[in-house]
Formats: sequence, structure tokens, C-alpha cells
Amino acid sequence: MVGSYVSTVFSNDDLLLTDLVDGFVFLDIRDPVAVLKKVRETQPQVVLHLAAATDVDRCEQDPDFAYHTNAVGTQNIALACQDTGATLIYISTAGVFWGDKVEPYIEFDTPRPANIYGVSKLAGEQIVSSLLQRYYIVRAGWMVGGGNKDKKFVGKIARLMLEGKNPLSVVDDKWGSPTYAKDLLYGIHRLLQSGYYGLYHMVNAGCCSRYDVALAIRDALQQPEITILPISSDKFPLPAPRARSEALRNLKMELLGLDAMRPWRQALNEYLQKELLTSLAALRR
Ligand SMILES: NC(=O)c1ccc[n+]([C@@H]2O[C@H](COP(=O)([O-])OP(=O)(O)OC[C@H]3O[C@@H](n4cnc5c(N)ncnc54)[C@H](OP(=O)(O)O)[C@@H]3O)[C@@H](O)[C@H]2O)c1
Repeated sequence: MVGSYVSTVFSNDDLLLTDLVDGFVFLDIRDPVAVLKKVRETQPQVVLHLAAATDVDRCEQDPDFAYHTNAVGTQNIALACQDTGATLIYISTAGVFWGDKVEPYIEFDTPRPANIYGVSKLAGEQIVSSLLQRYYIVRAGWMVGGGNKDKKFVGKIARLMLEGKNPLSVVDDKWGSPTYAKDLLYGIHRLLQSGYYGLYHMVNAGCCSRYDVALAIRDALQQPEITILPISSDKFPLPAPRARSEALRNLKMELLGLDAMRPWRQALNEYLQKELLTSLAALRR
């Protein structure tokens, strides 16, 4: 999802884009030798580390898989950055928090993950901050983006609405902060120019429930006839426990005068209108 926007946002930079799939330079972050070799060969000024095991339920069912990619993979990258002096940007998650706080979480709250994905991402944070001096750890919220590759909540709900599913049941007891992946990368671009290394929260402004997001998608898609029923998450048992709240506030960016993240509804509308609807229409042709 986030990777889709790198070449747009960093269009003025020399980029080497890696992935596990065709069309990119192949690099599996679980391979310490390959990671070090690639970083030594290319001597990047900055490594933007977006690779992760992001399927929260798969991580719960296969913890070794989660730790291998999110913790050991991150260690491989951090050690390569240590070796070459590159600055590392590591994307973490609101899922490092337990979820019982009423106010949005700030950078000074103590993490306590509610599932294995969160534990593995927090381990990645600890590895980065203990091995490096020049790093940014950026915690994002509910990711929005990816267009036709969007397999997360917004993509799923928008597809169901466009397929005519009515009514739709959506949980109203889980809270978070939507984060448009494109806005996140522009925020990271700003942060990188500041040189203010450290840990940051970076989400679109405001917080909401999954139900609120579904209502906003319905409005943006102009589908007022669809009924959205608020339901409890107990009705949707999943392998990984989810925190009640994953809402974040960008406190450190605010205090440093760097926070330019727009309200989540505005970002969501732009994503739906300019990207998701266009890519879904193209798929149907
Ligand atoms: N998605 C969210 O809601 C969310 C929220 C907060 C933070 N984040 C964080 O944001 C970052 C970007 O995630 P995203 O949202 O863009 O998720 P994503 O679309 O799942 O992207 C993760 C990418 O990493 C690749 N990958 C997985 N294992 C790899 C490995 N061993 N070596 C190289 N590449 C590997 C994946 O490839 P495959 O698809 O082939 O596995 C995928 O392309 C991650 O650090 C994630 O933890 C995500």
C-alpha cells in the first residue's frame, strides 16, 4: 500500500525499489547476507523500510513468520544501515498499544501490544533505536491506499458497496486514525528534511470508528440507499485480538511545527475519488 506512492512522492530522488515480485529489484529482507550486500553495493543515503508481514491474523497463527520478517528482517536492515551510515526510516504501527486509553495515544505513552503483529513491530522499533543513531520510527494508523491493490478495510467496504451489498454490518466499537499512505509519505519527506531523528506518530487528523469510516465511504460513493448497521466486534471473531483503540495523535510533529496531516475525511475522499474508483472502473472494463 505505502510502496505504491514512493516513486511519486520521492520523484526528485535516485531510487532503488526492492520487493519480492517482478518489476522490482528482488530483495528478501529475511536474508541478512543479501540485505548487507545490496546496501553496501548501492550506498544509499536513506533506507525507507516498508517491507513487513502485515496480515495481523496470519501473524497470530504463525508467530515465527511475524518475528522473522518484522523483527529479524528489520534487524538485517538496521545492521546494514549501521555498516554503511545510511539513515533508516522504519514504519511502525498504532498496534503497539493496548487500546484502553480514552484519548489518542501520543509518543510518550508506554507501548503494550495486544497481538503478535504488534509485538513483532515493537521489537522492530527496539532493534532500530538500539542499533542506530540516525533513524526515524514513524507509527501509522489504519492505512488507506493502494488503489486496485487495496486489500484493507476501505478497499473491501468500497468493493462491497459497489457490488450492491445491502445492508452492510460494520463494527462500531474499534477506534483508530485513518492514514492515507500518500499523506504519510509526504509527511516522511518533510520529516526527513528536518533532520529531527526519533520516534513520531503520523496519522491523518482526527479519530473515528470503523463504522464512521464506512459511513464516510458511503457518502463519498454517493450510495445513500445502502444501510450500514453498527455491530459489536464480538460478532466478528478473528484469530488476532484487536485493540479497542488505535487512535494516535501526532504530538511531536505538532510541537516541532511539522504536522501538516489533513483531516482523515478529506484524505479518504480524495483517495476514493481520485484513485480507488478510477482503478476499480478500469478493472471492470
Ligand atoms: N496496513 C496497515 O494498516 C498498516 C498500519 C500501520 C503501519 N503499517 C506498516 O506500514 C508499512 C508498510 O505496510 P503496507 O501497509 O504498505 O503493507 P503491505 O501492502 O502489506 O506492504 C508490505 C510489503 O512488504 C512485502 N514483504 C513482506 N515480506 C517481505 C520480505 N521478507 N522481504 C521483502 N518484502 C517483503 C510485501 O510483499 P507481499 O505482499 O508479497 O507479502 C508487501 O509488498 C509496514 O511496516 C507496516 O507494518 C501498516
